[in-house]
Amino acid sequence: MKFHVLTFGCQMNAADSGWLGRSLEGLGWEQVPAGEAQVYVVNTCSVRDKPEQKVYSLLGRLSEHLERDPSIFCAVGGCVAQQVGTKLWNRFPFVRLVFGTDGVSQAPAALARLAREPKLRLSLLDFTEDYLERDPALPGKAASPTAFVNIMQGCDNFCAYCIVPHVRGRQKSRASAAVLQECFALAGSGVREVTLLGQNVNSYGLDAGGDGVLFPQLLRAVAAIPGIERIRFTTSHPKDLAEEVIEAFGDLPNLCPSLHLPVQSGSDAVLRRMGRKYTVDQYLKKVEGLRRARPDISLSTDFIVGFPGETEADFKATLDLMRQVRFEGSFSFLYSDRPGVASVKMEPKVPDEIKSWRLAELQALQNAQQEAMLESLAGTTAKVLVEGPGFRRGSEEPAWRGRDEAGRVVNFAGPAEPDLTGRIVSVRITQAKKHSLWGEGAS
Ligand code: SAH
Ligand code: SF4
Ligand code: F3S
Repeated sequence: MKFHVLTFGCQMNAADSGWLGRSLEGLGWEQVPAGEAQVYVVNTCSVRDKPEQKVYSLLGRLSEHLERDPSIFCAVGGCVAQQVGTKLWNRFPFVRLVFGTDGVSQAPAALARLAREPKLRLSLLDFTEDYLERDPALPGKAASPTAFVNIMQGCDNFCAYCIVPHVRGRQKSRASAAVLQECFALAGSGVREVTLLGQNVNSYGLDAGGDGVLFPQLLRAVAAIPGIERIRFTTSHPKDLAEEVIEAFGDLPNLCPSLHLPVQSGSDAVLRRMGRKYTVDQYLKKVEGLRRARPDISLSTDFIVGFPGETEADFKATLDLMRQVRFEGSFSFLYSDRPGVASVKMEPKVPDEIKSWRLAELQALQNAQQEAMLESLAGTTAKVLVEGPGFRRGSEEPAWRGRDEAGRVVNFAGPAEPDLTGRIVSVRITQAKKHSLWGEGAS
């Protein structure tokens, strides 16, 4: 069967889709460009209203396409599927499989069955008690020098605005031996950089599925695997970022100097209503510790703008925090009511127009800060892990693309041969672009 996977949402969804694709290929299915597929798999995100609506408009567009050939069908998985369930069938009859976030592991077998039995429809929506181990379905040779490795599923934090615990279920840690085994296998297949993934990786091992290994130990064990030259992890809840992990930035040479540490707001009053369980001061202390351990650490964050009750003074405090920490990058989102979360009932809601103004102001400040920080890197030398061929607008010159240790995208000129993919090379940074760097390699 020819299939095509479309993915919305976070890195966890990207990792799940990657696995699903490899697993279907293992069954003899073929991944093809959109338009040529007999089966479409849509992996969805429900974190805000916008990505949820995107799923419906995509399915609407697919339906026109599928009407022409009734043998084509669709599977919808991930967080919207978990949230809406089999109601999707009423609206979109060509959806023959609905699989939730714990149902991913059984999706390939279900798809194979649906291909054999054209009248069948299936749903996989139950949450499981434990982390379901999957066959990693790794190819002999890695397709990319970087890989994501799941270390947990779900979240127990129930931040007031967040649907994730509702659609990903309770936190379930994966067995440490399984994590290490997958990292060993990845290193053996040519992967040089792994990113440990979970909604709240710092509380790894602290749920019923924990096997005694906590996050700091897991991090050290992965970092010690021969061939793993870079390690990253995401996402970290500030309240759970342990002192030992902060210190690891100072003494684990292959732990990359970058951290995504979502703060959400610079106002203590808003943080309290969000149920984040830290104050701005406590957050700043963690930042201080991180910078002490690794002065060149690049910090990024998430902000929610217009949380219910956010005043002009609360928002100003967020701007102040952005300046004070000098985040190199941030994702900022308009607050969005999600079904079933606590903040739906919180008042007053901030009017859309005010939210949009605040978002624009925050993003303008972020962009200015990022540009200044990237510009300050001109003239320095970066160690770039090459991910593949790169490009420079308006230039025919051969180029390569990769990331420096802090995760910044670097494009650099260099001969097309030999293939540098998977190598770490020294690149002299010559120019800062808006969101990336340009340089000259390589040695
Ligand atoms: N587990 C991660 C992030 C999960 S969702 C963490 O704890 O930080 C990614 C981001 O989406 C969040 O950090 C938050 O900024 C944003 N987000 C979540 N729910 C939202 C909502 N209802 N409205 C707007 N943004 C939201
Ligand atoms: Fe959502 Fe909070 Fe869990 Fe992150 S920690 S996934 S924001 S509930
Ligand atoms: Fe979205 Fe689900 Fe990730 S809601 S952000 S895809 S956990």
